[in-house]
Amino acid sequence: MSYLLHIDASSFDAESISRQIARSFLNSWGGKDIVYRDLALTPVPHITAAGISARVTDRALHTPEQAAAQAIQDELVDEFLGAGGYLFTAPVYNYGIPSVLKAWIDQIGVSGRTVHLPDGPLTAGRPAVVVSSRGGSYGPGEPHDGRDHLVPNIQEILGVDMGLQIRFITSSWGLAEVLPMLSPLIPQHRDSLAAAHTAAREAGESFTLHPVAEVPKPSDSQRPAARFSTAE
Ligand SMILES: Cc1cc2nc3c(=O)[nH]c(=O)nc-3n(C[C@H](O)[C@H](O)[C@H](O)COP(=O)(O)O)c2cc1C
Repeated sequence: MSYLLHIDASSFDAESISRQIARSFLNSWGGKDIVYRDLALTPVPHITAAGISARVTDRALHTPEQAAAQAIQDELVDEFLGAGGYLFTAPVYNYGIPSVLKAWIDQIGVSGRTVHLPDGPLTAGRPAVVVSSRGGSYGPGEPHDGRDHLVPNIQEILGVDMGLQIRFITSSWGLAEVLPMLSPLIPQHRDSLAAAHTAAREAGESFTLHPVAEVPKPSDSQRPAARFSTAE
């Protein structure tokens, strides 16, 4: 059965703007089949040398470290491939993707399973919503125009390489409520926030899970690459 894979990445919990906007999406979508990961509460490990080399080493030859790292990737990749739709919350941290979400992406971007497949990605055409809250504003003509490295990065890997049909919903000037020097921008923040909640509700109303065939099992005879092989 297909499900929505919902992944939160803000370090904050209920007070997180992106999580609140995602709630608007979920309330209007109304679906119940959800697999949830809170990456702030339960971060996935960063990809290690053992994890990278495991991908190109025959599983029968894995060291204990490679086998452990492979098990983590398999769980995350299977969960990703089994989803018929995706909801991500992704605040801008230092102009980019929160490190906990980047760590998850590094675990699931696996050649031959999620990317670099001869017939294209298995996830092609599946719908995704990415809610990105930010302290500043990155629209055309805005002070940080051109400095948003989160949307382009996510679009490249999840959109272009994995084929997800991504709708980005952004909320700007969140720091206006926090930093006294930005307080004149509170009205802009509130307008942006209201528009983001409206967009999230609209996205939820029309969101339909993509049908998903059985998730292909990872090959247990991955072709060893000389550079990474641990075999003698
Ligand atoms: C570690 C950190 C780095 C941040 N870096 C940026 C940044 O580069 N640009 C920006 O616009 N906002 C930045 N912010 C502000 C957040 O993007 C903003 O507060 C956003 O609303 C947080 O989303 P959340 O409420 O869902 O956690 C940063 C916040 C934190 C905690």
